[in-house]
Amino acid sequence: MKSKLDKYLYTWPHEELNAQSGWKKSQHKGFIEHPMPESEEKLANDSRWPGFFPSAICFVTTTNGKQTALEKVVGATIVNRFPFIVALSFCTKPLSKRHYVREEFIKMLEEGRSVAVQYFEPGESIDKCMNAINTIDDNEIDKRIGSTGLKTIKAQTNDCKVFTDAYMVYEAKLVKPGKDFEGQKIFDKPYTDFGSHRIYYLEIEAIQLREDICKGESQVHWRSLPFWDPKNELQPKVEGISKPLMDVKYQKGYASDYMFPAKNTTAFYYDRIENGMCIKHLPPLPEDQVEVDNDKARWPCFFPSSVGMITTYAEDGTPNLMPCGSTSILIRHPLCIAICVSYAKVNVRYAPRASLDTLLKNKKFICGVPFVNETVIDGIKYSGNISSAQDKHKISNAGLAFMNDDEGPVLNALPIHFKCKVVEIVRLGTHFLFLGQTESILVREDVSIENKLKWYSYPDVETAKAEVKI
Ligand SMILES: Cc1cc2nc3c(=O)[nH]c(=O)nc-3n(C[C@H](O)[C@H](O)[C@H](O)COP(=O)(O)O)c2cc1C
Repeated sequence: MKSKLDKYLYTWPHEELNAQSGWKKSQHKGFIEHPMPESEEKLANDSRWPGFFPSAICFVTTTNGKQTALEKVVGATIVNRFPFIVALSFCTKPLSKRHYVREEFIKMLEEGRSVAVQYFEPGESIDKCMNAINTIDDNEIDKRIGSTGLKTIKAQTNDCKVFTDAYMVYEAKLVKPGKDFEGQKIFDKPYTDFGSHRIYYLEIEAIQLREDICKGESQVHWRSLPFWDPKNELQPKVEGISKPLMDVKYQKGYASDYMFPAKNTTAFYYDRIENGMCIKHLPPLPEDQVEVDNDKARWPCFFPSSVGMITTYAEDGTPNLMPCGSTSILIRHPLCIAICVSYAKVNVRYAPRASLDTLLKNKKFICGVPFVNETVIDGIKYSGNISSAQDKHKISNAGLAFMNDDEGPVLNALPIHFKCKVVEIVRLGTHFLFLGQTESILVREDVSIENKLKWYSYPDVETAKAEVKI
């Protein structure tokens, strides 16, 4: 059946992965490797990502009170739970035609200090915004919103323009200096500069969700993982080793195809309805937001994200795997992967991870890219619900085979791995953001131009078919 998403299909790789494009045989059987970073000449020619990580696309508006601006952001990600923070990164150094400096947008954002992050159903509104962004330069950015021809109204908590076609809006403001639950200082400044990009931290003040979605008449459908068809053996046989009992009281579920709202999702508790949108305000102080109840501490609404499979070694050499939903590529050059790891003791859901110690000490990790596959998804469910503090054989018990590398274990079944050294650590309140500079990319030999990974960078909205509990 034809889907509204078909025309937004994204595939990778874009070219043959051979010596000419910088790939060579890896020490790991069945893999090829691309050393990083790339040269500036190579980037100037083609700055598309040299490896694939699933990153959703959203549209962001900002204003300085006089003018307005519109940009698209790839890989917007929630990086912290209390306060609830979205990270958006923008190019500050010219790399190529694609990666140019977002000078005016950045200026306006820093003057007005607020944004509205917006999502549309696949179709005309996305195309109109993309067209405005692609045809109107940053130095004329004020003309972009008008040129879309789309209707806008003012956001609830700030003066940014909100498209009335958006089905979901996150309103946020630049973070101010503060303290976390341990009394440690956070956010001397509201951004991190590294390489080609500036990462902004924006505290979410309100969320708007279209009324029919809130009421369960429609559902957001989100495929968080790419699909791919391995041609070689998925992995060698794995023997589980004395699995410990899992804590059944509380488990974080995971499905690569996610629907919101649905029976197993939290309801969106909104304050009021206006212009067909259900609106929820988030209290300004982190203390007021803490709900020790595990369910309520879940994200208050859907936000499209994927999962990175983060591997490390503990001090005693124990290999570890931590699925990390807050994973995104936030810097293009040198290519950096950001992962956000919980350090605060809030509840069962938000507690310090064993991986945290290792990341802080060893300052390196590998980020594997999972795909829609039963073995891989079972592996996410197991390793995302048990700590290596309880299970020394966590990766094998998750049903995944691995090979040892200097940075971390390489999972045979995954098509892509980014080997990273940590170059920045940012304390955010409940999570640390680790910025990992990619030193090389490992790709399975059966990923090729003939056998690509396929993915949609937008969620879809459909009439609800499944029973929805509100
Ligand atoms: C789909 C999924 C996404 C997750 N995302 C994160 C995340 O972004 N940050 C985090 O700290 N924990 C996240 N977790 C929880 C950790 O993976 C989990 O606590 C894991 O057991 C930690 O392992 P460790 O204690 O051995 O490091 C996620 C779990 C799942 C299943």
